[in-house]
Amino acid sequence: MSVRNAPRLPLISLLMIHGVSSADWGVSYSPSHICALKHSSVIMSCSYTYPTGYKIEKVFWTRNPEQGKEPPDLSKDPEYSQRLQYLGDKQQNCTIRLSHVTQKDQHKYCFRFITVNDKWIGTPGVTLTVTDLQVEAPESVKEGQNINLTCKSSCALTDRATFIWYRNSQPFTERRDGNNQLLLQSVRREDAGRYSCALHGHTYISPAAQLTVTFHPGADRNVIVITATSGGLFIIIIIIIIIWFIMCVQL
Ligand SMILES: *[C@@H]1O[C@H](CO)[C@@H](O)[C@H](O)[C@H]1NC(C)=O
Ligand SMILES: *[C@@H]1O[C@H](CO)[C@@H](O)[C@H](O)[C@H]1NC(C)=O
Repeated sequence: MSVRNAPRLPLISLLMIHGVSSADWGVSYSPSHICALKHSSVIMSCSYTYPTGYKIEKVFWTRNPEQGKEPPDLSKDPEYSQRLQYLGDKQQNCTIRLSHVTQKDQHKYCFRFITVNDKWIGTPGVTLTVTDLQVEAPESVKEGQNINLTCKSSCALTDRATFIWYRNSQPFTERRDGNNQLLLQSVRREDAGRYSCALHGHTYISPAAQLTVTFHPGADRNVIVITATSGGLFIIIIIIIIIWFIMCVQL
């Protein structure tokens, strides 16, 4: 499926047929590599040129074009038809929007335009990579320590992102500078909980990572582990047992 080494056949054939300058025919994409967050919408910015006097008959996008095969129109593909929106025109703008991207959409996308007698495909196209987010955090931290939580993506996100942090599903803080780290200084028991991260303006939220805060450092056998989800219940049960114990003793 790779088109990386495919010779630029359309260019050669056009040169032979018309003897035109290759600079006249072309498609440019900016950027040509996109790292997008899962479930987000991606704009593939694109423009195309051809010698004056040609009339564009048909424009469409395709993916992973193969040499010698007529590339299919993606908007006719049921996997894409609902999510693909052509924002360009039939003159020079071939920008497209693909919404709700998933890992299955990781391909090379190319624009094709057809005039009365000629066809052109803009290879190598736009390479789309789709990432999710993962919180990287130490599982357990001692009270008073400093720790960094990191919101990791598998590729460097193309859009400059504002990271939002959640603790126990509640919005907690934001990082507007594109920094994907959250520094927790002098960790307290209240900092324990389930941490997840997201990007501002996006619906996708990372899976949660559990942060456990231990105290009484050093006395390992007596370490009491408090977690935000079970901590409260744990304390209540202890209190009930103590009260029950005192009442039994008094009887
Ligand atoms: C192409 O069209 C898109 C969507 O309408 C627009 O945002 C973009 O500015 C246009 N690009 C050019 C070079 O005109
Ligand atoms: C957290 O990250 C910042 C920036 O990368 C770094 O300067 C700092 O030393 C880190 N702190 C800890 C406790 O890892």
